[in-house]
Amino acid sequence: MPLAMEISHAEGSYIYDTDGKAYLDFVAGVSACSLGHRHPKVVAAVKKQLDAYMHVMVYGEYILEPALNLTKLLANHLPDPLETTYLTNSGTEAIEGALKLAKRYTGRSEIIAANKAYHGNTMGSMSVMGLEKNKQAYRPLIPDVRFIDFNAEDQLVHITSKTAAVILETIQGGAGFIEPGNSYLKKVRQRCEDVGALLILDEIQPGIGRTGKLFGFEHYKCIPDILVTGKGLGGGMPIGAFTSSNEIMQALSENPSLGHITTFGGHPVIAAAAFATLTEIISSNLMAKIEEKENIIKKHLNHPLIKKINGKGLMLAAILPSPEIVNNVILKCQEEGLILFWLLFEPSAIRITPPLTIDNEELIKGCEIIIKVLNTLDLSKNT
Ligand SMILES: Cc1ncc(COP(=O)(O)O)c(C=O)c1O
Repeated sequence: MPLAMEISHAEGSYIYDTDGKAYLDFVAGVSACSLGHRHPKVVAAVKKQLDAYMHVMVYGEYILEPALNLTKLLANHLPDPLETTYLTNSGTEAIEGALKLAKRYTGRSEIIAANKAYHGNTMGSMSVMGLEKNKQAYRPLIPDVRFIDFNAEDQLVHITSKTAAVILETIQGGAGFIEPGNSYLKKVRQRCEDVGALLILDEIQPGIGRTGKLFGFEHYKCIPDILVTGKGLGGGMPIGAFTSSNEIMQALSENPSLGHITTFGGHPVIAAAAFATLTEIISSNLMAKIEEKENIIKKHLNHPLIKKINGKGLMLAAILPSPEIVNNVILKCQEEGLILFWLLFEPSAIRITPPLTIDNEELIKGCEIIIKVLNTLDLSKNT
């Protein structure tokens, strides 16, 4: 059921409805509004670019400073050999690009993905979605996709010399914010190297500072061959990006040329917003404060109905005893002026992904609303 709020405006950590009621935002547009709503630096960058030019020509034909600035800044903050970025309109389009690139570079067709993975909703991304029930209505999807369980080392033998790429979320999102354990990603990386397959890491949610580091893979010491970002990169504007070495990316340029075409990818206004967002995240102390914010949430979400809290940084999922309790809590918190949301494939989880800019008092206030609502449920046995 949709939350059905009619939005009047949004600013910082708050969204306001048309009745003038303020809602503290613990979701941030599903991890997209990394700097909160209408961050002044993002708004200024958008306005400046609007006054210069908007769309002028399909991506790649002209030299567009906003896209150049953004891709250079990304390259400067990525480890070698991740240096060349292709900008797209959305996360799912970037996943499509990454899958195509892996096929072209390796000359292989098999893709290995993880059960309970979510990578987007277009045909290619849906093909690597790890939940049959959500995609069976669209079959046939792309062939040669096989699934392994995330974190199951014994299943890495399924990655073979037939595999073009393994695609994984660095932290599984829809599955319940599941972290890779026991050097799992490093083991996948090693297996890929052994058989000549590429590793694609989907950082559309954990990327761009949300976990306290610019990229989630930094926590797990595993550099992918192709990195996919989106959501928070745009600071509230629609974007996706896939990045690889220049050598790998060149596979899209010939036989046939124009390996991925997009009219609006690299759009100057979006790229200007993303450049301002990335600059702010890199140059401020926001990332340094994420761990403290994570600890505040964990400390203040202490309640018998919260079984555990999954995830890292400001990508947290509170696991409750049942989907019914989750529904109740999300709806009642909205009444109390707090925005929460569901996770796609884990019905017992509440998504907590506030803007990185949220302050400690706001975090405590939000947690107190959750506890108050849980206490009401608990007392009335309305669960
Ligand atoms: C991990 C992950 N990959 C890909 C996507 C798709 O991104 P978009 O909705 O921008 O197409 C999402 C969106 O929720 C996501 O969380």
